[in-house]
Amino acid sequence: MRCSGQSLGSSLLLVLSTALPTLALTTPTPVFTLPGPLQPASWFENLAVRPDGKILATRGDAPEIWQIDPATGTGALLVSVTGAFNLTGIAEVKPACRPQYYSSNCPQGETYVFGSSHIPAPLQITPGSAKVWTLHLPTSGTPTVSLLAAMPTAGFINGIAAWGTGRVLLGDTEAEAVYLMDVATGAYTTPLTGLTGINGIKAAKASGYIYRADHISSTLSRIPVDGDAVATGPAEILAANQSVDDFAIAVDAAGQGKAYLGAMYDNKVVEVDVAAAPSSGPGAQTDLATNLSGTGSGIVTVVAFGRRPADSGLLYAAVGQGGGNAAIVSLDPN
Ligand SMILES: *[C@@H]1O[C@H](CO)[C@@H](O)[C@H](O)[C@H]1NC(C)=O
Ligand SMILES: *[C@@H]1O[C@H](CO)[C@@H](O)[C@H](O)[C@H]1NC(C)=O
Ligand SMILES: *[C@@H]1O[C@H](CO)[C@@H](O)[C@H](O)[C@H]1NC(C)=O
Repeated sequence: MRCSGQSLGSSLLLVLSTALPTLALTTPTPVFTLPGPLQPASWFENLAVRPDGKILATRGDAPEIWQIDPATGTGALLVSVTGAFNLTGIAEVKPACRPQYYSSNCPQGETYVFGSSHIPAPLQITPGSAKVWTLHLPTSGTPTVSLLAAMPTAGFINGIAAWGTGRVLLGDTEAEAVYLMDVATGAYTTPLTGLTGINGIKAAKASGYIYRADHISSTLSRIPVDGDAVATGPAEILAANQSVDDFAIAVDAAGQGKAYLGAMYDNKVVEVDVAAAPSSGPGAQTDLATNLSGTGSGIVTVVAFGRRPADSGLLYAAVGQGGGNAAIVSLDPN
C-alpha cells in the first residue's frame, strides 16, 4: 500500500547507491497486464501464488481478485467481492479441522484470507471500513467468498501471513499493530503493537520470527516471537534506507537467506542478504531490477516466488500506477 514518508528514504538511497557496488540488473519479463481500457491508476496490491503456480492478485483499485497463469501469461477475473471497495493483503491458510465449526467434513481445496478497506483516493482510508474475508477454492467447482470479520475498530489491514494452522497475522498500518486471527471464528488477539509503518508481513513460525516491512522508517526487520506471536526480544533491522512495501523472503531455519523487496515508489525490486539470527545489522542491498513499469514511474507493491518446478526460483512482482494498466512481471534473481 502506498503511503507518505518515502521522500527521505529515497533521497538517502540516491546518495548511498553511488557508494554501492553495481551488479548486473535483471530485465523484467512482462507476464500479464490488466486488459481493457487504459487505466493508469490501476494497481494490484498483493499476490498469493497457488500450489499449482497460478497467481491470485488483489486489485487495490477495485473489489476484485484476478487469477493469472504465468505458464501462459493469461489471466481472468476470479471473484468480485460484494461489500468491498479496495482489496489489500492475501495469504493462503490451512484451516484447522475442528468439527464444531464444520458441520460434516473439513473443507477440501485451498483457503485464502484477504483484506479490504475503502480507499476512496490514494492515501485516504475511510475509518471503520476494514474487513477480512475468506476465499475458498474447492478442488472442483466455483470459488466462494465469505466475510470472516468486519473490523470497525481496525485501521488499515495491509499485509497478511498464515501463522501455523488455522490462524493468520494481519498487519494494521494505521493502528501500528499485528492481530492474530482464528480463521474459523474471526476472533483475534493483538500480540504486537507499536509497529510504526507496518506494511508487508511474513511469518517463520517454526523458527519463531515475524518479518515485516516499515514504509515510514524504510526498513525490513525481524521480530522474535512466541507461539502466539508475542515479542520475546528486540527487533533486528535487516535492511535500511529502502522504500519498501511487501516482499518475498527465502531463509533457512537459522534465518539466513535472501529477501526481495517491492520498493514501492522506487519502481524496482531490491535484493537483501539476510544473515542468520541474531544478525549484526543490515545486510548488503542491491537493485535486482529497476524501471519495473517500463515507463520510468510506477509503484511496486509486492514480490512473490513461483511455486511450479519451472518457476520456483523466479520472482513475480506487481507494478501499477505506472502509466499503463496494472501488471505482473517476472524476474530471475539467479
Ligand atoms: C478504490 O476502489 C474504488 C472502486 O471500488 C475506486 O473507485 C477507487 O479509485 C479505489 N481507490 C484507489 C486508491 O485506487
Ligand atoms: C542508512 O542511512 C544512515 C544515515 O545516513 C546510515 O548511517 C546507515 O549506515 C545507512 N544504512 C544502510 C544499511 O545503508
Ligand atoms: C523504462 O523502460 C522503458 C522501456 O524500456 C524505456 O523506454 C524508458 O526510457 C525507461 N525509463 C527509465 C527511467 O529508465
